[in-house]
Amino acid sequence: MKILIANHYEELCKLSANIIKEHVQAKKDAVLGLATGSTPVGLYKQLISDYQAGEIDFSKVTTFNLDEYAGLSPSHPQSYNHFMHEHLFQHINMQPDHIHIPQGDNPQLEAECMVYEDLIRQAGGIDVQILGIGANGHIGFNEPRSDFEDRTRIVKLSESTIQANARFFGGDPVLVPRLAISMGIKTIMEFSKQIVLLASGEEKADAIQKMAEGPVTTDVPASILQKHNHVTVIADQKAAQKLKKASYL
Ligand code: PGA
Repeated sequence: MKILIANHYEELCKLSANIIKEHVQAKKDAVLGLATGSTPVGLYKQLISDYQAGEIDFSKVTTFNLDEYAGLSPSHPQSYNHFMHEHLFQHINMQPDHIHIPQGDNPQLEAECMVYEDLIRQAGGIDVQILGIGANGHIGFNEPRSDFEDRTRIVKLSESTIQANARFFGGDPVLVPRLAISMGIKTIMEFSKQIVLLASGEEKADAIQKMAEGPVTTDVPASILQKHNHVTVIADQKAAQKLKKASYL
């Protein structure tokens, strides 16, 4: 696991955008795995400005998002589908049929999960997967004690995630869906050729320390990334402040 410590959030965004940009420049039909949440917003802004500067072409790129709330239609303002269009897709030249996000309002949710997993497999896996991390160590919506063998499936959000995400629902946790579809940990580990995990802010410092330096345990789902052979963690100084090994610096 390679750990890069950025001086501030802007640098984190630039470093992560450069990884994606270089990848897509070398492989025009790259498959990207994307994440939602506050952390990647600046990465997406940087990618939009790189696109506007003519430095990156998304016309042949395929994307798969990590997760989506169950029960929300793609057009629902708090859906991850809506989020991705607002923060990235509507500003770049992605082909709509190359964008994949689980359909949260599919009445056949179980089938939706299986089809999603198959689509990733058929695409040949994911070249670069962007991940955030929850303060509880989750990746995607794989909450603590998720099985490391899990594939894309329906998951129950933990109470801490519901509280953390209430800010996107006008601050009211009651409005946050209780269920979601999420790529599983096995999906992420097996299908991602390269993983870039982003963390910003002191509320992520414990999770980053446990992920990188603690035991590999389902109590901290992100700790499984220690067993992946190509992971780059990009953390700002606040998120990195509890790391013990000075060799990262
Ligand atoms: P955040 O979410 O970027 O909004 O902190 C990250 C996550 O929960 O995976």
